[in-house]
Amino acid sequence: TYVITQPCVDVLDRSCIDECPVDCIYEGNRMLYIHPDECIDCAACEPVCPVEAIYHEDDVPEEWESYTVANAEFFTTTGLGSPGGAARVGRTGTDVPPISELPPQA
Ligand code: F3S
Ligand code: F3S
Repeated sequence: TYVITQPCVDVLDRSCIDECPVDCIYEGNRMLYIHPDECIDCAACEPVCPVEAIYHEDDVPEEWESYTVANAEFFTTTGLGSPGGAARVGRTGTDVPPISELPPQA
């Protein structure tokens, strides 16, 4: 899977959403999250993010390693599960730690 990391927080450029062929990038409150089971590793989202927030799970910088877990936990702790498409879910208005506890980033 691909993972969205800290540079997305409070930026939410959303360019990535338009690139994803399986609509697996979901909107939290302060950042977006990639569904680890729905992502097909197409990599289309990675180059379009203007703040380079998106990485393959094997390439996530060490300082942002917790985001791999956070992307997955977003779907378990919110009860979203695997909706199979972000468009009909829309903005959830919620985040998971450590994102929800970060000071303003942008
Ligand atoms: Fe965030 Fe970059 Fe997408 S800032 S919303 S990961 S384009
Ligand atoms: Fe979509 Fe990016 Fe995965 S475009 S399929 S979230 S690699």
